[in-house]
Order: sequence, then structure tokens, then C-alpha cells
Amino acid sequence: MLISVSSSHLVCFNNFPSKIRNKTKKERNLRLQHIPQKFVMTTSTQAYGEPWYWDNRYTNEPGPFDWYQKYLTLAPIITLYVPPHHPILVVGSGNSAFSEGMVVDGGYTDVVNIDISSVVIEAMKTKYRDCPQLKYLTMDVRDMSDFQSDSFGAVIDKGTLDSILCGSNSKQNATKMLEEIWRVLKDKGVYVLVTYGAPPYRLRLLRDSCSWTIKLHVIEKLASEEKSDHPVWELTKPVPLNNDGSSVEEALGRNPDVHYIYICTKEISANSNVTA
Ligand SMILES: C[S@@+](CC[C@H](N)C(=O)[O-])C[C@H]1O[C@@H](n2cnc3c(N)ncnc32)[C@H](O)[C@@H]1O
Repeated sequence: MLISVSSSHLVCFNNFPSKIRNKTKKERNLRLQHIPQKFVMTTSTQAYGEPWYWDNRYTNEPGPFDWYQKYLTLAPIITLYVPPHHPILVVGSGNSAFSEGMVVDGGYTDVVNIDISSVVIEAMKTKYRDCPQLKYLTMDVRDMSDFQSDSFGAVIDKGTLDSILCGSNSKQNATKMLEEIWRVLKDKGVYVLVTYGAPPYRLRLLRDSCSWTIKLHVIEKLASEEKSDHPVWELTKPVPLNNDGSSVEEALGRNPDVHYIYICTKEISANSNVTA
């Protein structure tokens, strides 16, 4: 069973210890705020990777809804890394208003959105029928053969790799997804991965899939556009990232209450690399 604990958490219930599984939903939600990362990461037979789950969900909850963060909170990072003059691909776009923010507030002019759920894609096509900068296509991120290689300047993923990692055959599916993202990116294009997954749970997967050059940023898990006066780390400053990710704990402390933003650059000539 999978649950989204709150508007900004995507977690796999089966991985929780039994003392949490046996609690009522309310008690669980309180306890989950303190749950160790290792229980929030992977599981084997979950539905978040399945179209029927998302079709049901979008039929019952038409939204709009943004997982983790909204466009305005991430805008400084998007502006920093996402080139304005190339087509941008948003994978697993759902019914989020993020892409609308990219067009209306960020001035991006060609934002292609894909999702495995035809329900949400049809709804978004209707919603944005008068916005030529936004395109919506039903497509599986693991097979984007309708797109030519080297097509996009950036690929943005907010919560989609996380969903796939909750599904069955998670490692295989995640690898297919990452290889497809690499293929459709132009050389020097960036894959912006917004996730709850800390480096010990994401770095190896990213490195094993393709030869990304990886930078890391973090943003606090705050509701809507709220801003903390004392953020744990400045958003636009990369967090020092060594090979095993231990430098991140040194910089931020243990279990910081943040979302991680991996900036993975496709550099055809480079070997898998991390930079601070
Ligand atoms: C956690 S939601 C994130 C939605 C949106 N990106 C946001 O930030 O609000 C994950 C999204 O990934 C989509 N998804 C799951 N598996 C997919 C796949 N294999 N290909 C494309 N989209 C997928 C789901 O339909 C869902 O919309």
C-alpha cells in the first residue's frame, strides 16, 4: 500500500516498521515526520509506477496540485540552470501548475509535458488549449521513442523518479527512465531532479545510469511560497558533494528537512562526475 502522507511527501508504506504500520492514520502522520529516511525510500510491489493508479487519482482529485514545491519557490534554480531558448520537457507533469509558472512567470516559450495518465493529460490539454507554449502528451517516460534524441535543453522531474522507485521493478524502471532522459537531452542539457531522496539513495542510481555531471541544491520543505528567514542552506549555492555524499551530512546535519534538487548535466565527453 502506498500513501501520500501530506501534500509534500511521497512515501512507500510497506517499508515502514510495524510499530508505525499498526498506528491509526492520524498517529502515523504525526510519527512520520520523524521517520528515518531508510524507510521512506524503496519498496517492491507498489502502484505509483502504474497508469491505473494515477488515472484513478486524477479522476477523483482533478487538482491543480503541486508535489513538494511550487514553481515560485524553485524559480531561482530554474532560472540558473534551465536555458530559455530550447524546448523544455517536464516528465510526469500531473496536474501541477509548475509548467504554467514556467511560462507565465519564467518566460519559457516551449514547455512539453508528458504523463503516463491519459486522464490528467486530457484534462490539462483542455485547461491550456489557449496556451500554445504548453503542450501535453500521454507518454511513458521509460519509452519516449516519439521524441528524437538530443531534442531538449532541460528535463524537469518533480516526484516522478520517486514514484517509479516506489513501483515494482523499481531499479530497472528507473534506469530505463534515466537512460531515456539522457537520450532526449541535448549535449550540455540538464536533468533537474526534485526529490525527497538524499544522496545515499539517489547518487548511485544516477551515476550507474549515465555519465552525468552532478551538482546538488536543497530547499526546505515549506508549505506554498512561505520562505524561511534562516534556511538551512542557501538555495542557489550548491551543497558540497563528494563521491559518497557524506559531505552533504557534514554541511546540512543529519536528516535535514529539505527536498533535494540534483542538477545532472549531460556532458558527452565527461565521465560520471560530481562537483561541489
Ligand atoms: C508524484 S506525481 C508528481 C506530479 C507533478 N510532477 C508534480 O510535481 O506535482 C508523479 C507523476 O508521475 C506520473 N508518472 C508515473 N509513472 C510514470 C511514467 N512511467 N511515465 C510518465 N509519467 C509517470 C504520474 O502519473 C504522476 O502524475
